[in-house]
Amino acid sequence: MAARVVFGAQFQNPILLAAGTAGYGRELAGVMNLHRLGGLVTKAVSLAPRAGNAPPRVAEYRGGMLNSVGLANPGLASVRQEHLPWLAANAGPARIIVNVVGFELGEYAEVIEGLDAVDGITAYELNLSCPNTSAGGMEFGADPQSVRQILSDCRARTRRPLIAKLSPVLPDIGAMAVVARDAGADGISVVNTVPGALTHDDGSRRLGHGTGGVSGPALLAIGVRAVGRVLECTGGIPIVGMGGVTTAADARQYLRAGAILVAIGTAGLADPRVPERVIARLERDVA
Ligand SMILES: Cc1cc2nc3c(=O)[nH]c(=O)nc-3n(C[C@H](O)[C@H](O)[C@H](O)COP(=O)(O)O)c2cc1C
Repeated sequence: MAARVVFGAQFQNPILLAAGTAGYGRELAGVMNLHRLGGLVTKAVSLAPRAGNAPPRVAEYRGGMLNSVGLANPGLASVRQEHLPWLAANAGPARIIVNVVGFELGEYAEVIEGLDAVDGITAYELNLSCPNTSAGGMEFGADPQSVRQILSDCRARTRRPLIAKLSPVLPDIGAMAVVARDAGADGISVVNTVPGALTHDDGSRRLGHGTGGVSGPALLAIGVRAVGRVLECTGGIPIVGMGGVTTAADARQYLRAGAILVAIGTAGLADPRVPERVIARLERDVA
């Protein structure tokens, strides 16, 4: 399977671990060979540490998984001092993409500024599916003005590539990708999770938080279409495709739709051998 140059860096294969499902790499070191990956997208990084939502945080069902982790993370200072140095020293040829979140418009750029002196980061992925706490909780990625401002603020603070990650429930994901590109995004990641909720037979909520995000097999067709739509509208920005990838055939769906990189999330949580299996299969198929 062909190596590829994306975001100014060589990726040895197109397979990444999706944000939030691989921690900061160390969590997986005993169960997976990180060196085999094209890259790893870290768990979210926010300015301050976040405890996240009340448990239970995940619920499985036939379509996949519902999660409400609530972007729990140790915060910028700890990620910078403890987690990223470990990852940079242990990822081998796998590329490191750092997932950034914010709860106020300026927070994304502050996090990036705080990370920019850290070695070994190939790109930043901006999770735009976060609630804007100063504007009633509407997600940033649903408002073109917010997307413009976040991207241009971040662009002003770093020369590293910026990847805007979008939600599949936007009315027109392609149009929002164009807004992000025009404001400075070098790439687009699609898709994030889809909002969902489930209850037990007795009516109690399956997630402590009540609602969460759907991931896993149900997202495959949604993600593949999103990649196609982003490609159509942008005319060729690098796209990271994700949602429901479990097999090499699923990954090829994304590559055929126009993604240059493909991330695996939920399937790797259920079985950490899945990403290596997908890579090996893609390699065998072109051999
Ligand atoms: C437990 C869990 C945590 C996640 N955390 C993040 C996150 O921190 N930042 C982010 O942008 N996406 C996060 N996501 C979304 C995934 O990166 C991915 O976009 C989504 O799960 C679809 O891929 P999948 O079907 O292969 O899981 C998370 C998903 C899961 C299941």
